[in-house]
Amino acid sequence: MALNVVIMAAGQGTRMKSSLPKVLHRLAGRALLQHVIDAAARLQPDRLIAVVGHGAEQVRSAMAQAAEGLRFVLQQPQLGTGHAVQQAVPELLEPGTTLILNGDVPLIEAETARALVAACDGRRLALLTVHLADPTGYGRIVREGAAVRAIVEHKDASASQREIREVYTGMMAAPTAHLKRWLAQLNNDNAQGEYYLTDVVALAVAEGVEVVAAHPADEIEVLGVNSPAQLADLERRWQRRQAERLMAEGVRLADPARFDVRGRLSCGRDVEIDVGCVFEGHVVLGDGVRIGPYCVIRNAEIAAGAVIHAYTHIDGDAQGVKVGEAALVGPFARLRPGTELGPQVHIGNFVEVKNSTLARGAKANHLAYLGDATVGERVNYGAGSITANYDGANKHRTVIGNDAHVGSNCVLVAPMTVGEGATIGAGSTLSKDAPAGQLTVARAKAVTVAGWQRPRKTP
Ligand code: UD1
Ligand code: MG
Repeated sequence: MALNVVIMAAGQGTRMKSSLPKVLHRLAGRALLQHVIDAAARLQPDRLIAVVGHGAEQVRSAMAQAAEGLRFVLQQPQLGTGHAVQQAVPELLEPGTTLILNGDVPLIEAETARALVAACDGRRLALLTVHLADPTGYGRIVREGAAVRAIVEHKDASASQREIREVYTGMMAAPTAHLKRWLAQLNNDNAQGEYYLTDVVALAVAEGVEVVAAHPADEIEVLGVNSPAQLADLERRWQRRQAERLMAEGVRLADPARFDVRGRLSCGRDVEIDVGCVFEGHVVLGDGVRIGPYCVIRNAEIAAGAVIHAYTHIDGDAQGVKVGEAALVGPFARLRPGTELGPQVHIGNFVEVKNSTLARGAKANHLAYLGDATVGERVNYGAGSITANYDGANKHRTVIGNDAHVGSNCVLVAPMTVGEGATIGAGSTLSKDAPAGQLTVARAKAVTVAGWQRPRKTP
């Protein structure tokens, strides 16, 4: 039995008032449609189809790598949800079940979708429904006794039907052969002049096919995004869930309402996170890690006992960033891709590190740049010093041996090596290697001009 999943994503999303197609707007750092695709992919369907229309090319290229085997079907023009699924018919495998999801209802869980497919069982029409305090705008589930008879759209509903609180969430699972037959019978004789997918319910009832309702574990799974306000509301609900999950694991969040995860965050024991932090991509925090307020951390591993002080920006991008045990970073530090800090390394304020390794106990505490550098143990790298790693065409490495001391305001012109235990005098610009164990200084000697007088204002 084949499982097809059809995700409707062709609608315009007028209320977003945006030139970006609605389903490409981001929730927790991922496009709305990507969330739905990820949930669908967990069911391992035989066919995974997205119906695109409005902004089709943009959606297609943004989602080209969204899932293995994802197929796109074009719906042009967009004549309603029934018409959307009709466009996917040639792609549907038989016999089996077709699950229909919405590209703008991002938080559907794979478990709920699976339960809907199970309720269908290859022979029933299964609808995902919820009871809402305010059902305005939704299709109503019309029952006779316990049996579902039809879905009536809000705009077509009578006053008494509008009292019904049980609504259709836009998701259903149907036996594929039946669905194809029903889709061929739809018409657009209704208040909106559209081909309604929801009309398949009455067709199923007329044929004596059983119609059943399944329900999501949580209302959040069926909330759609139609406006920036709804997007922000869903984002906060999602973030609250992430916060609660982490707190249940023992993570101490200063304020779960001021906390954002846009990816995966895994934490050891006794992790503390202050307010206003954003975690992106894949971030791992070891035991006892403390993150100060207003840090942004992406694709990074931070080892046990490290402290990241306020306003630090860590971006591992594709290469990642590693921060060693009991290292101290920030405030106002910037760690870029390929940074690896050993244990007990100190990186202070306004220090930028890129594609560099600092071994155990090395320190760069103030206003410095380390790019493409290999820094030994216990090195002290002075305030205002930089590695000049780029000659305008190529990048070169700087190697600084164990126990070296680089004074303040030095320029190390790469490629160059500072030997073990070397001392570089403050203010030196060096383009050749500095030998181990010795003092190297490269700066003009101070001159005192005897009898010199400051100019005075002419009267
Ligand atoms: C639909 C349901 C309604 C349900 C509600 C839940 C129908 C007729 N009505 O109404 O019963 O309560 O969802 O949110 O199905 N789309 C296309 N092509 C189109 C039209 C829509 O791909 O031609 C897509 C949209 O991008 C969206 C989804 O289908 O992802 C739902 O369309 P929308 O216009 O939001 O339907 P509603 O009127 O909300
Ligand atoms: Mg809608």
